[in-house]
Amino acid sequence: MDKKQKDAISYYDQFSKIYDWLSPKWYYHKPRVYGIEELALKPGNTILNLPVGTGQNFEYFQKHLKETGLIIGIDLSEGMLKKAKEKRDLHNWSNIKILKGDATQINSDYLLDNFENSLEIDAIFCDLGLSGFPEWENIIDNMLNILKPGGRLIIMDWYIPQPTIRGNFIKWIGKGEVDRPIYQYLKNQVLNFTLNDTFNRGDVFVATGIKK
Ligand SMILES: C[S@@+](CC[C@H](N)C(=O)[O-])C[C@H]1O[C@@H](n2cnc3c(N)ncnc32)[C@H](O)[C@@H]1O
Repeated sequence: MDKKQKDAISYYDQFSKIYDWLSPKWYYHKPRVYGIEELALKPGNTILNLPVGTGQNFEYFQKHLKETGLIIGIDLSEGMLKKAKEKRDLHNWSNIKILKGDATQINSDYLLDNFENSLEIDAIFCDLGLSGFPEWENIIDNMLNILKPGGRLIIMDWYIPQPTIRGNFIKWIGKGEVDRPIYQYLKNQVLNFTLNDTFNRGDVFVATGIKK
């Protein structure tokens, strides 16, 4: 792991204590509702949330899953994972599995090591992760590889191509970038690509694709 990534994870370990206050649920409510609707979840489905952070998406997923199926939440920061586990335990949500893992290593071998052979991933929600992950193009490829054929990958993230004060603030607080061509890359890898870039004054997008 390079120094920048190590520093980001140490930062999130500390930031986790106040994350839900400084990045409150209402701030991303609209793109989350839209993005999670795009997952087309049905009761019994298996969804991967990468990175899971403090588990802000759990209640949105549960609305669709009705507390059935499986929600797999992966993150590299133990601080963030602790908060996600607290949310899960508070609600006694038994369909949530939370794992420590590096997004750059999430592939079919990782799934085989952590789950039984029959695991089929119906959908993946990748929110506010690719703007900070190293090797982000490989991570998109890996996510598509582990999805079932016809499964949906939904990405929610920042895209501010020109330098702005807001963009610099988001880069500072999130320890990532805001100008990566994430959805442009996704577009060429999937079927039925759609883009909605109207959120948070046009700076946050939700992109959808179906595995080829
Ligand atoms: C801005 S937070 C987003 C969390 C959550 N998806 C949300 O929207 O609240 C970014 C997260 O990425 C995680 N992260 C950074 N690098 C990672 C990596 N290589 N593998 C897994 N998680 C990583 C951090 O620990 C942090 O929880």
